[in-house]
Amino acid sequence: MNDGLSSNSYIDLPCIHDSRGDLTFVEGCNHIPFEIKRVYYLYNVPVNSQRGGHAHKNLQQVIFALSGSFRLILDDGKSKFEFWLRDPTKGIYINKMMWRELDCFSQSAVCMVLASRPYEEDDYFRKYEDFLSEINL
Ligand code: TYD
Repeated sequence: MNDGLSSNSYIDLPCIHDSRGDLTFVEGCNHIPFEIKRVYYLYNVPVNSQRGGHAHKNLQQVIFALSGSFRLILDDGKSKFEFWLRDPTKGIYINKMMWRELDCFSQSAVCMVLASRPYEEDDYFRKYEDFLSEINL
């Protein structure tokens, strides 16, 4: 496992810092490479919980740890890439056809996901073997 995924995978957001605290913002098609059609977040995640376990046919996403930390494993069907997210200004871009697993959530972790499409259950591969079959077509 490595984190040698394309440097395009890392998203750096601005941080406006002053004595009142930090402010970070994100603009679709500017800081991230798509128009934002949906935002969702995971919270109250038990520390031993595992999320993800699927890939998307067309959806692109960018994932952030707004609070706390967690591990993200991406799998393109050939290699696995490991990331530890803990900085709200640093996201990981997830292209379509990437199997993802999230685990090792810290207490009170909040995972925010920006997505290029509305929720569409038809867009999911929920079985790893179906994902691999599509990759190897
Ligand atoms: P899922 O994408 O499997 O969650 P995770 O990747 O975090 O493990 O979604 C969990 C459930 O929530 C599933 O029943 C679909 C539903 N859901 C929506 O209704 N809308 C959404 O935008 C998302 C992301 C999930």
